[in-house]
Order: sequence, then C-alpha cells, then structure tokens
Amino acid sequence: MPQPHILIAVGARPNFMKAAPLIRSLKRAGRVHLTLVHTGQHYDPELSDWFLRDLKLPSPAVNLRVGSGSHARQTAAILERFESVVLRLRPDVIVVVGDVNSTVACALGCWKAAYPRGTPADSSRRRPLLAHVEAGLRSFDRSMPEEANRIVTDHLSDLLFAPSPDAVTHLRREGIPSRRIFFVGNIMIDSLRRALTELKGSRVLERLGVSPGRYALVTLHRPSNVDDPATSRGILRALQWLQGRLPVVFPMHPRTRRMWARCGLLGRLTQGKGMILTPALGYLELVRLMKSARLVLTDSGGIQEETTFLQVPCLTLRTTTERPITISHGTNRLVGVIPRRIVESCEKVLRSRPRRPRVPPRWDGRAAERISRILLRHVIHLTP
Ligand code: UD1
Repeated sequence: MPQPHILIAVGARPNFMKAAPLIRSLKRAGRVHLTLVHTGQHYDPELSDWFLRDLKLPSPAVNLRVGSGSHARQTAAILERFESVVLRLRPDVIVVVGDVNSTVACALGCWKAAYPRGTPADSSRRRPLLAHVEAGLRSFDRSMPEEANRIVTDHLSDLLFAPSPDAVTHLRREGIPSRRIFFVGNIMIDSLRRALTELKGSRVLERLGVSPGRYALVTLHRPSNVDDPATSRGILRALQWLQGRLPVVFPMHPRTRRMWARCGLLGRLTQGKGMILTPALGYLELVRLMKSARLVLTDSGGIQEETTFLQVPCLTLRTTTERPITISHGTNRLVGVIPRRIVESCEKVLRSRPRRPRVPPRWDGRAAERISRILLRHVIHLTP
C-alpha cells in the first residue's frame, strides 16, 4: 500500500524554522512520504543556505528558483511553477507555513492543481488537502503585504494550526468552522528550544567583541521602514543615540543594505563608535545574540516571539503587531518609528529591571508533535 505523501512548501527565511520541527516529527512517525519544496523566494546564502544548514533541514527535493520581483510577479511565478510540481508529484497533503508570498502562492497552487486521486475506477479529480501552520494571526493592518497572505491562506486551508488563543478567536470570528481549527502552540519555539541546546560552540559574541547583557541587537527589513528614506533617517537618528549608550549589533538584511546604501545612510551608520554591522546571520548565531542582548529593536514578526520566550526586552519598530500575545504575556512593546519615542523607550528599558514575563500557553516545544499527530490522522483517510 502506498504511503501517504505530504509536501511541505517553504520559500523565505522565516519559513525554515517553522518547517524544520515538523519535518523531523513526521520523519520520526515514519508512516508518510515527505517532500520539501523551496520556492527560491529567498536565494541569498545569508537568507537561505545558512538557515537550512543551522536547522539541519534536508535539501529541498525541488527548488522553483523564483527569486525577486514585484510581489505580483513573485507570487505569480511561484503559483505557475508550483502547479507543475504538484501535478507531477501528486501529494495527498500540502503544508504551507507563515505568511510570506510563497505561503499564499503555494496555497493557491494547491487549489488550482486538481488531479485524479481516487481508485482507478474513480476518475474524479480532487486537489490535495491544504494545511496552514501559523494560522489565524492578524495585524488588522491592511497595508501590510503579509496580512493579505494570512487572510487568503487561512480561508483556503482545510486544516488550520493556530499558535495562540487569539489566533483561534480570529479564525472563528471569520466563520471558519471549529472542526478545522487546532490550537497547537507555536512551532517557532520548537526550533528555538532546540537551538538553545546547540549554542555551546558559538563564538559569535567574541567575534563581534560584545559581552553578555551589554549590547543591543537590531534587525530591520520591512519595506515600510527601510524603503522610505524619511522613516529610515529617523530610525538612524535613534540608533545613533543608542550606539552612544551601548554597542549595537546590526545584522543587515540584503534589502536594508541595498536601500540604505542607495540613500547614503549606510555610510552614516558606520560613523562613530559602537555600531557593529554584519551581513544577515545564520539562525544559531542570531539566537545566541538574542539570548544575551540587553535589548532588541526589530520590525520582524518572529523576533517578537523569540524574545518573549527568551525573556529579553523587545522594542518593535512598528505600530501594529499580529502577535499581541508577545505584549500581553511577553517582553514586547510597540514603539513605532518616531525617533524621540524610540529613544525614550530604549531609555526606559535601560533604566528598568527586567520584569518576569509569562511564556504563552503551548509554547512548549511540542507544537510539531501535535501538528504531525493531526496530519497523520487526516492523511490516513486519504490514501486509497
Ligand atoms: C520576506 C517576507 C517577510 C519576511 C521576510 C524575512 C513577503 C511579502 N515578505 O520579505 O514577511 O519577514 O521575507 O526576510 O513575503 N533579496 C535579496 N536576497 C534574497 C531575497 C531577497 O537580496 O535572497 C532582496 C530582493 O532584491 C528583494 C528584496 O530583498 O527585492 C525583498 O525580498 P522578498 O523576498 O520579496 O521580501 P523580504 O523583504 O525578504
């Protein structure tokens, strides 16, 4: 009897740490055939290869090599190439993760690719079952490209794996039947907990010349922050103030490096002491830096969650978050991008004693186990 076939699609840096624990858990269960497909949305070694290596992800069986482009072009290219892969490989289930363009494109690809999936006597065409890991997050900010990706993907999905209770509430409110929604916890934390056991050999603090608890960590990549010169200049002013107070480690996303070089901000950033610029880092080095930072400034989604788990103060340079639990339970604060506000918030963190945040429910390193159990239960019924 053929084994059920699960295809897991990834494409961009924040996808990899969500797929890795699930792949490991499904492999352990051993009753399915697994295929990893990489869309190639992220292709730079610093955004892709280093992460795949650190997370010990298997080499993708297929890479669609879509690369960069406008959002529409990128999404369309993935959709087109993914359809042929699905028709060729004929998986029973497609799993998409997170909220990037690859997520929504592969979700749509799943719906568009129908093929005969019954017994030889049954020629009806059906599409694979679609599962979404990290379902139900909403920022309610419709200018964010990821918000559309989240809404569309959730409404196409058959199985929705929610990381937090608020995510479950959003899905129910949007009319998705409860039987399709599963509160499984946060799979990013599965990867993070594992990474924490693998940090012993890391020399990244020594290499960058910083000591535990005595530096700030900054990551920025959102187009709304780094593509707009006026916003970027304001953030830069705040960072210049901060580097006068303590060393600032700033691993730069290729997009930020390119945009800030173009408007002359990169040169200004390196003036003065205390700014340590690096290319974007691998997963383990970033976790090591996050764990010992005095504070983190970011516009990333995942880092808001990771700092909550690590109990490190996090200032998010955005006005909305799709992860409010990191504020209600964790260490995160939304500070926006007005320089005075960023400086005041940094001062407050540097003055205060860290409070003891709570770790949100089911951020316990067992999300992948829950997801694979549910997937296996569903997939067994699908094979003829
Ligand atoms: C994407 C995700 C975002 C996620 C982020 C993490 C979407 C809509 N956005 O944003 O949610 O937080 O990844 O990094 O999917 N580029 C490179 N090298 C690469 C990939 C991209 O230089 O390997 C440059 C390209 O020139 C491109 C720009 O970065 O124009 C944007 O890349 P893209 O993948 O479209 O989105 P990100 O900004 O990385």
